[in-house]
Formats: sequence, structure tokens, C-alpha cells
Amino acid sequence: MVTLTTDLLILGAGIAGVYAALAAEERGAKVLLLSKDPLPSGSTPWAQGGVAFPLDEADLEAHLQDTLRAGRGLVEEGVARSILEEAPQHWERLLALGLPFHPEPTREGGHSRARVRHLGGDRSGLFLLKGLLKRLRSPVQEGYMAVALLLGEGRVAGALVLGPEGLQVVRAGAVLLATGGLGRLFPVTTNPKGATGDGMALAYLAGATLRDLEFVQFHPTALPDGSLVSEACRGEGAILLNAQGERFMPRYDPLGELAPRDVVARAVHRERERTGGVYLDLRPIPHLESRFPTVVAATRTLGFDPVGEPIPVAPAAHYAMGGVKTDLLGHTGLPGLYAAGEVASTGFHGANRLASNSLLEGLVMGERAAKAALQDLAHPKRVEPLPILLLDPEHLKPLRERMGQAAGVVRRGQDLAQALAWLEGLPLKEALPEDLFAFGNPRALRAFVEAGHLALLARLLLRMALLREESRGAHFREDFPQEVQEPYHLEVRGTPGAGRE
Ligand code: SIN
Repeated sequence: MVTLTTDLLILGAGIAGVYAALAAEERGAKVLLLSKDPLPSGSTPWAQGGVAFPLDEADLEAHLQDTLRAGRGLVEEGVARSILEEAPQHWERLLALGLPFHPEPTREGGHSRARVRHLGGDRSGLFLLKGLLKRLRSPVQEGYMAVALLLGEGRVAGALVLGPEGLQVVRAGAVLLATGGLGRLFPVTTNPKGATGDGMALAYLAGATLRDLEFVQFHPTALPDGSLVSEACRGEGAILLNAQGERFMPRYDPLGELAPRDVVARAVHRERERTGGVYLDLRPIPHLESRFPTVVAATRTLGFDPVGEPIPVAPAAHYAMGGVKTDLLGHTGLPGLYAAGEVASTGFHGANRLASNSLLEGLVMGERAAKAALQDLAHPKRVEPLPILLLDPEHLKPLRERMGQAAGVVRRGQDLAQALAWLEGLPLKEALPEDLFAFGNPRALRAFVEAGHLALLARLLLRMALLREESRGAHFREDFPQEVQEPYHLEVRGTPGAGRE
């Protein structure tokens, strides 16, 4: 088997991974970045709205208050403050790199001011990521994923990696997880097909702590195939109508269409059930076709005409607020293992992420995690890969249907328990690296590994959703519709080899 050695191995090439790689190479480190899919990959290029940056010193406090309000008592105030305080230096850096941001920021749900910086019309994430990738000098291996972390002398020291030619060992002084979220647990999602929670599963299997997995943000306005219709559309005048043609949002929240995302998603869900459909009227937006080219194209592909009529929308799984628990520098608690971006749970998003705070977090935490990792590089002499979880991907369709039905916008204990019982019956297998050679075809192996990760995370998510007997932010339990007084986090610590638990 080929063995490579590097200082910092970064898994995932979205904003957190690429920005981390830039920070590490600037400091002279040898970096290897793996991207499971061809570049530009991950969820970042799909992000339409933009990056939320405080407008000025005075706005920092307002941005913080908006973040705290949206997060429903679970945002760690110290974490949020430190990320927002560091935001201006990253904004200046992006400008200095020559990224073509629009001069006027836009507004999105839950923000008290227009502070979302955007570029490329509604292709903010794509333009941003391409701009950063252009400046990267470190190698990026496209089509490579980690199937197991390597452990040695009590630390994470690399990964067993699957690529188009098969398996290879990458030994690293430290590993940074930047693998994104788990939207592919659900039947309808705005996420790309690679969003299979790999980093969360790998971290858990290595003994790290996962936190708040039950908080999955549903974006209120996706097209029937899951294509995103940016919240910035509502920020710029689009309105929601039910099947009776009524503008219903003012009945649910004084902020109307610009209420926090959890509130709008639940309202859209209710109005669809009550009246048979919900529609977004994009016609009030000036210059619709040039401002939102991606939205207009996706809508037309499905046979709707956004210039002529309101388009059908529904909530879709969008963002994981929970993930691998980290501190303010991206440490996971396992020596040698760091996490940044959607894969991580820093405490910035609480129970409901404020729109466009995620790309900001990717920048700040990507750079911080890279810096912290470089302080603590070590190359143990002997390393062992951890066991790998495998599931036949034929189980994914029913898994997603069950997750959509039980763990969607509105949840009930009975449904969660039934879905969990079904998941616990799935034949999830633990394999050793030598067992993997039985898979002649790397693509088939990738599908089994991804399905294994999804099944593990589905179980953990359902257990947390059952345990959380309250409604808070993105987690709404019909059988426990109130928030409890004292907000609390839920955590689960993995143990090496705990995959089938
Ligand atoms: C959107 O453009 O609506 C998505 C932005 C986000 O999820 O932060």
C-alpha cells in the first residue's frame, strides 16, 4: 500500500478546509488536502446567500444579539463573541485577495440589518471558494476520502484513504476534519451528495465527542428536488403565499418572511399541511434574473417560470448545527485531531444557525484550527487504523424515508422511537482494513463506507432527538412543544470501535 507523509492532513475542501490549508502553508507547513468529489466540492459552492460580517464596531453587538436570539439559548456567548470579533480581519483579507464582493450587503432572516456580503449574484460560495482555491499551492487529491483515522501513541496520526486506485496510508502530524454536514441523511436536502457526515462518524469512531446532533436546520424554501432558493430572495422582497393565495408569515411572526429560519420552516410546513401548498413569489425582486441566476435556472429546469408566477417551495434539510465538539481553537479533545466548519460544534450556532454565519465560522475556525494543529505536530512510530463501518447502500432509501418522516421539521417521540428501532436492526458491519480488499471496486467501497457513516449518525441523532423532550430552535417535538427553562447540550462520546453500538 502506498504511504504518504505530511504535516497537516485536511479532510474536505470546502471553505473551512481550503482556508485552513492557506493558513497552514503560509506558515511553512506541508499540507495535503483531500476532496471526496471533484473541485470545487463540498457545500460551500452551493451557498447562495453569502457571508455575514458585522458592518462595523457598533454592529458587532447587534450581530451577536441576532446570533444569540436565533440560537435559542444554546449559543455559547463567549464563542460567538470571539468569532464575530475576529470577523473584520477576514473580511479585510478577502477584499485584499481581490474577491469581487458586491458593494451593498444584503439582508437575510433573523438579521436586524443588511450585513450579508455576497458575490457572483447568488453564487457567493462558488465564487469565494474558487477565489481561495486559485491561491492555494498545496496539493489537493480529488476523489479521495478517509475511511478510517490512524491512531498511534495516544494520538490521531493520519488516515487510511480511499482513492480511485484503491487504499493508501497518509501519515500526518495532525488531522483536520473539514468534511461538512450530514444532509444526506434526509430524503430532501439542499446538500450535495457527499454530505454524508464522514468527519463526524470518523471522529466518533476514534473516541471524540459529538454534540447536539438533533439540531438539523431545515431551510424553509427549497424546490421540490431540494434545490435551494436563497433566503436572500426574501431579504430582497420575495413573499410566501399559501395555496389560498394568503401571505401567511405575518400571522406567525412580526418579522414576517424574515423571521429566523426555524420559525419560517415550521410555518411553511404547517401551511403546506393546512392548505396543500406553499409558494414563493419572486416577482417583487428587482433584476431577478441577474441577482439570482442560480435560483432562476434551477426553477426553470423544473418547469416553473419565476418571472411569471409564484414557485412551489418546501422545507429541506440544510445545515447541521451539531457535530464534533471543539473548543475555540478547533481542538476535539483527541490529541492530533481538529475540526472546523459544519462538521464541528463550536457553540456558535446553538439550536438554530443564523443565516450566513456558517461561511464566517468556516473562515475563522478553519484558520484557528490550522494554527493550533501546527503547534502540536507529532509522528508516532507505530500507527493502527481504526475499524471501519460498512452498510450495504441498498438500505439508504428506506433510511432516508424514515429520517424524513420521523426527524423532519415536526417530530413525535413515537415516530422517533420506531425509526430508531428500525435503524438498530440494520446490518451495520465493522470491518478491518484487510477486509476492504474484498471490494474490487473503490466506488462500491465508498458507497458502503458512506452508508455506514450515515447509519451510525442516524442512530445517534434519533437517540438525541428522543432524549430532548422539549422544542427548541430547529428541534420541534409535537409531544413536547415548549422550551424547558434551562438550556442544555446533549453529548455522546465515542469509543474506538464503538460503531455497532
Ligand atoms: C441561503 O442563501 O438561504 C442559505 C444561506 C445559509 O444557509 O446561510
